[in-house]
Amino acid sequence: MPGVFISFEGPEGAGKSTQTKRLKTALEQAGYAVLLTREPGGTPLGDAVRSALLNPELHMTALAEFLLFSASRAQLCKDIVVPSLAANYVVICDRFFDSSLAYQGYGRGLNLEFLREVTWEATGGMRPDVTVLLDLEPKLGLERAAQVGAPDRLEQADLSFHQKVRAGFLELAKAEPERFLVVDATQEAQAIHEQILAAVTGSLSVMG
Ligand code: TYD
Repeated sequence: MPGVFISFEGPEGAGKSTQTKRLKTALEQAGYAVLLTREPGGTPLGDAVRSALLNPELHMTALAEFLLFSASRAQLCKDIVVPSLAANYVVICDRFFDSSLAYQGYGRGLNLEFLREVTWEATGGMRPDVTVLLDLEPKLGLERAAQVGAPDRLEQADLSFHQKVRAGFLELAKAEPERFLVVDATQEAQAIHEQILAAVTGSLSVMG
């Protein structure tokens, strides 16, 4: 694939949407064609699945939850990510499969190998070139998220769930240090942006 694929990950309230938008703007100013998308969502099917996944009134098993995220992911990869990479875009995705490993694997306790197998099918084996992990203490993140609006179905899960998710992300990052950039999300937004831009620019020049 000629393009470059960058995913953003992290617990609730880490500031991913601010940082993805800033990175997109900065890369466009540097002359790259950039596509910004998100999970769950990014396609009409993904958006429909997203509203079910976030709806606090819907009860779902951990397996049903994971399969719905995977359905959104399969559609997004086929319709958006693969064609955009083929057209030489830098694709930035607000969450990707590491969220399933962290939330449904480490958080809900589903088997990681099973999650990886289904994910392989959903993505066609595609992996991000760079994954930015915006790390912060879940209690702080949930407080930040609460200022933005009413908690969605996942934000309503208890603190111990969110702590397992954060620990999961950090473990995933430790296992693949060449793919992950871990950033302290308690810093000022501008400082975070500068760190991300420097790392991504470095990766883009290496990847040509
Ligand atoms: P969103 O509003 O995008 O949350 P945030 O702004 O924090 O990214 O909602 C997505 C929610 O879905 C979020 O709580 C993380 C969760 N999620 C999973 O549990 N598994 C997944 O595979 C993905 C992509 C997201």
